Amino acid sequence: MKIDGTPYRSIWVDETDGWSVRIIDQTKLPWNVDLVRLTTLEEMAHAIKAMLVRGAPLIGASAAYGVALAMRHDAADAALAQALEVLGATRPTAINLRWALRRMGAALQSVEPAKREAAAYAEAAKICDEDVAVNEAIGRNGLALIEEKAKSGKRVNILTHCNAGWIATVDWGTALAPIYMAHDAGIDVHVWVEETRPRNQGASLTAWELGKHGVKHTVIADNAGGHYMQHGEVDLVIVGTDRVTRQGDVCNKIGTYLKALAAHDNNVPFWVALPSSTIDWTIRDGVAEIPIEERAASEVTTMTGRAMDGSIATVRIVPTSSPAANPAFDVTPARLVTGLITERGLCEATESALTGMFSDLA
Ligand code: MRU
Repeated sequence: MKIDGTPYRSIWVDETDGWSVRIIDQTKLPWNVDLVRLTTLEEMAHAIKAMLVRGAPLIGASAAYGVALAMRHDAADAALAQALEVLGATRPTAINLRWALRRMGAALQSVEPAKREAAAYAEAAKICDEDVAVNEAIGRNGLALIEEKAKSGKRVNILTHCNAGWIATVDWGTALAPIYMAHDAGIDVHVWVEETRPRNQGASLTAWELGKHGVKHTVIADNAGGHYMQHGEVDLVIVGTDRVTRQGDVCNKIGTYLKALAAHDNNVPFWVALPSSTIDWTIRDGVAEIPIEERAASEVTTMTGRAMDGSIATVRIVPTSSPAANPAFDVTPARLVTGLITERGLCEATESALTGMFSDLA
């Protein structure tokens, strides 16, 4: 997608040196577009952990390039094992991380060390190119849902949570891909962007992305979503996900579950967009089996933004003596999910539908 007219991906190999990895530091958005250069495994692991890069598919693609950076330094078996372990420990919930590392391990283990660096860069590039193609297919499949709603002749209002746009993937996004395509096709689409406390990925990232592409949107407090649903102001909910179980339970950014409940109560379709790399075929019960990342309390007790004098400031919003808890994700049971938008088509959130559509992976 474009930033001020220039096309970007969220991760790429530096054109000048041909090996270092460039990312957009997402902790600086929407105030600054900082293109950070990463040169080592440790820098990439830090970028994932500290969320300079985030979003399940981009976490996977970043980890793949983290392995490539490690192989540049040392391509012995022990170094490969160490790289897979260090990157695998960065964030626990998004299954795309494990998926990408498993794929890198499989691609490199049988390659002799002297050839591992080149093979790692090639596999990471392949993961990125495939991600773009998969998200484009998700966009096309989800577009049909928006086109259906647009038949009424009225504006289509879509609610989304967190950021599942192009910067959460390599390009296009998952939940936002159908929205970009609808906008580009001339459909009158408007997005309710939930701020997504505590890190505000909606307010900072989704609003920025949509604004740069010219998509109409309104940022709302997380707690306003149910209200707009009750008043007929939401035609569809589309969110992304960090892990879907084989029975169709959906893990996504904290607060998603409450929106699914509100959507269910108001007969608003609740769709989840995902690449098949986000499906964890090894588990069924998402609530019991998905590890939920607990992040720093400071993400809850403080807020960062632009002060009136133009500087970026972090302020505390909770009494200094009050503790805070910060589960980063929750699980929406499959029964609350209208359906899944995948690269192979629309799919019911059930084990039989998922294993039928992805029989080669399940
Ligand atoms: O903690 P984050 O910002 O990495 O969480 C991101 C989300 O929850 C997204 O909705 C999910 O990864 C889907 S991204 C296409």
